[in-house]
Amino acid sequence: MLKLKVIISFLLFAAVSLFIIAAGKKDRDDIYKTTPLEFKIPKGWPKPTVDFFKKNKLTEEGFLLGKKIFYDSRLSKDGEVSCAGCHQPFGAFATFDHDLSHGVSNSFTTRNAPALMNLAWMIDFHWDGGVNHLEIQPLGPLTAPNEMGITLDSALMILKADSAYYRMFNNAFGNPAITSQRMLKALAQFTGSLITSNSKYDRVMNGLDTFSNFEKKGYVHFKNNCASCHKEPLFTDNSFRNNGMLLNRFKDIGRQRITALSSDSLKFKVPSLRNIQLTFPYMHDGSIFSVPQVIDHYIAKTNAPQIGLDSVLRKPIVLNKLQKNELIYFLYTLTDTVFTKNKRFAPDGPVYFKH
Ligand code: HEC
Ligand code: HEC
Repeated sequence: MLKLKVIISFLLFAAVSLFIIAAGKKDRDDIYKTTPLEFKIPKGWPKPTVDFFKKNKLTEEGFLLGKKIFYDSRLSKDGEVSCAGCHQPFGAFATFDHDLSHGVSNSFTTRNAPALMNLAWMIDFHWDGGVNHLEIQPLGPLTAPNEMGITLDSALMILKADSAYYRMFNNAFGNPAITSQRMLKALAQFTGSLITSNSKYDRVMNGLDTFSNFEKKGYVHFKNNCASCHKEPLFTDNSFRNNGMLLNRFKDIGRQRITALSSDSLKFKVPSLRNIQLTFPYMHDGSIFSVPQVIDHYIAKTNAPQIGLDSVLRKPIVLNKLQKNELIYFLYTLTDTVFTKNKRFAPDGPVYFKH
């Protein structure tokens, strides 16, 4: 009789344990279930140059975490400058209306903040190509005294003090450990997802719209004078070129800073011209304020070439007033408001942009 009781209690115990184990497992599965995101290559575009998301799997949870970090101004010395402070969504993630961007304590950067877009198709980052991986790029702005001005350790402490981050790191990576590697991976998931491919130009290329006569003529001027460096469909060939900019007050020698080759003097990365209508002022130092002035720059430089000017620009560009306007009309077809107004890329709560 006693034996039977022992057996029954043992069976009961085993059943209950199994149930608990099963329930526990189910709980864990519930906690760590990421939603994979597909990285869609727009129609007619080449494959991205680097597959960032091979080792850093793109998920909804990672993207949302990256977005929260991107807009979090607490991650700076004075609590006022987030990534978005300089890369503003309404300016196609460039600094709207400013030549140089403001960092903490009213400091300034020495370069114009580039628009963040289609980063997966880039080989090098920054105007001089000084950074070669999207995941390490944020270490620069986070720690630079004229940008966000904090140490990596204090950034992690700020994240750890916010319980929402514990939940989000857990959702994205399976446990709540808040590490710099995870922070950088999440940021890259957000910035690498900023794809702009819905401009009028794209609709025309996909047969969904037509250019006006003006735009059509402008497209011809563009192909004749600009497209060899600002190569379609990304509007950059990812090269470094000297387009006639002079040495500025910061003595910025561009690519030469990285390679130490005098032949790289004043070469800068060819920027994409997508959303150019929104990303003024222009060039690495924001020294040219409007698109008509940019075109005048090219006309002047190609008609009086200086030492070092790229060989492509040694053929004089000749455009009369009407033709200049046609070219501008074409360039404005590269504006993608589906991108700049995309709620998915917008902050979830109110944010403070320092001006
Ligand atoms: C104070 C202004 C400022 C802040 C804050 C800032 N950036 Fe930038 N960002 C810049 C400038 C200026 C450059 C160009 C740097 C260079 O060429 O040397 C740049 C370049 C970049 C690039 C390279 C883009 C390209 O086309 O090469 C990426 C990516 C980027 N920033 C992401 C970030 C992220 C992520 C953060 C937040 C962790 C951030 N930035 C914070 C001003 C800023
Ligand atoms: C030889 C290659 C080359 C050619 C040809 C060329 N560009 Fe550029 N472009 C560049 C480089 C390099 C820069 C960046 C220079 C800098 O920042 O100092 C640039 C910058 C620009 C910018 C500023 C973009 C920004 O985000 O700041 C605009 C606008 C522009 N080019 C338009 C044109 C137009 C229009 C033409 C044709 C008339 C043209 N480019 C021809 C190489 C070229």
